[in-house]
Amino acid sequence: MTLTTAAPTPTVPGAPLLGSLPDLRRDFLDTFLRAHREHGDVVRFQIGLPKLGRQIYAVFHPEAAHQIFGGQWQDYRKDTRFYSEIRDVIGDGLLTSQDDTWVRQKRFIQPLFTVKRVNSYAESMAAESARLATEWRASARDGGTLDVHHEMTKLTLRMVVRILFGEDADRVLPVVQSAFPVLGASAIVRAFSPIWLPLSWPTPVNRRARRAQAELFGACDEIIARRHASGVDRDDFLGMLLAARDGDERLSDQEVREQVLVFLLAGHETTSTALTFTLRLLGLHPEIQQRVRDEIRAVVGDREPTAADMRELSYTTMALKEAMRLFPSAPVNGRRSTVDSVLRGRIVPAGADIVTAPWVIHRHPDFWDDPSRFDPERFTPEREKARHRYAWFPFGAGPRACIGQHFSMLESVIALACLVRDYEFTSLPGEIPVEVHITLRPKVPVPIQIRPTH
Ligand code: HEM
Repeated sequence: MTLTTAAPTPTVPGAPLLGSLPDLRRDFLDTFLRAHREHGDVVRFQIGLPKLGRQIYAVFHPEAAHQIFGGQWQDYRKDTRFYSEIRDVIGDGLLTSQDDTWVRQKRFIQPLFTVKRVNSYAESMAAESARLATEWRASARDGGTLDVHHEMTKLTLRMVVRILFGEDADRVLPVVQSAFPVLGASAIVRAFSPIWLPLSWPTPVNRRARRAQAELFGACDEIIARRHASGVDRDDFLGMLLAARDGDERLSDQEVREQVLVFLLAGHETTSTALTFTLRLLGLHPEIQQRVRDEIRAVVGDREPTAADMRELSYTTMALKEAMRLFPSAPVNGRRSTVDSVLRGRIVPAGADIVTAPWVIHRHPDFWDDPSRFDPERFTPEREKARHRYAWFPFGAGPRACIGQHFSMLESVIALACLVRDYEFTSLPGEIPVEVHITLRPKVPVPIQIRPTH
């Protein structure tokens, strides 16, 4: 379909003065689902008064997602308010950079994320998972109930910090724990605020963010300076970033710090959310949980899980993917278009703010039967192959897809192997509302009862 034969994008009806702002503020994921049901695969939200306010184009179909992230990805840029806030607080690393800067960074960083390299972190991932399983012994003895989200955030942060900083992990961990939530909260408040003020303005949110930023930059810069002073190359992730060469070029110390912060930002809350909802769903479906446990016992037995086990832990991986379908850690993905385009027969103009929503696409009734049911069988290799490539894309897609996908899947499967083997999980009944912070996360604690299996 061409621009001349395409139809205008339907506008979702909203309040007289504020448009869809109240609905999006109240619950934008639910508002998206309703808009999809009532108005189709591509819709427009008006925020504030027509002509004066802002418009957001929301995209709910795999074919349109393919166009934006795959086929014509260069026409859809990361020039969005959200990414600009991330740039302001942690710097312009691989997640936010564009054009030549992104190409240069990717050349240095890609070799650190090959399957072989990432598999070499499996031992640290298993050690941290086993440590958590041991810590749980005391709570389990008291018939314990845990907030599984709190536990998974602790686990994934420990894993990523240990892999990034090696022996320096204990020095950075407390700083990351105190600074990151402040920076995340400020990026979100600023990204959605109706009035935009530079980060240098001394508002309370900005002042808190700048203090946290100084603390975090200081801790990273001090470790980098010590590494240079010692003259010893370490084989942790930071050591490899410092040693990385492309011809005569190397990353500057500031660029190294920016990448490290991106891996911390993109790499722990996302996996924590994936693990939290996998355990929650397993805790609601005892028969599926038992099948996962039987597989882990058959493949791993009593030893520590390894990267080589991942291929054999296929049902465990299917359960994880199904949880990520229902609770994608990045439930929406923003871009700004640079060209007039036609998405699913609708006109989307150049300069449009576009939000693609895996949250909705992962529940699209044309691609998923009974979409709200938890059913790992959807991810058998045959059924995966038969499905549209963009019907499930929690890691994004195309050239800007997640570089940490294998890292995250490996750490999740290893964590599940340790925890589901050693404990039986029962989720307490009740709704768990979610919110979108930088990533999707539960709004309330996620209580799970654990009982040792041996
Ligand atoms: C469940 C876990 C994860 C999910 C769901 C996830 C999701 C995503 C998504 C959707 C994108 C694309 C964003 C966009 O197109 O705007 C992305 C990019 C990225 N992710 Fe992840 N991620 C996860 C884990 C990780 C981990 C563990 C790391 C690093 C250790 C990581 C590092 C990155 C980086 C650096 C990018 C930018 C890549 C580029 O643009 O070249 N992520 N991630």
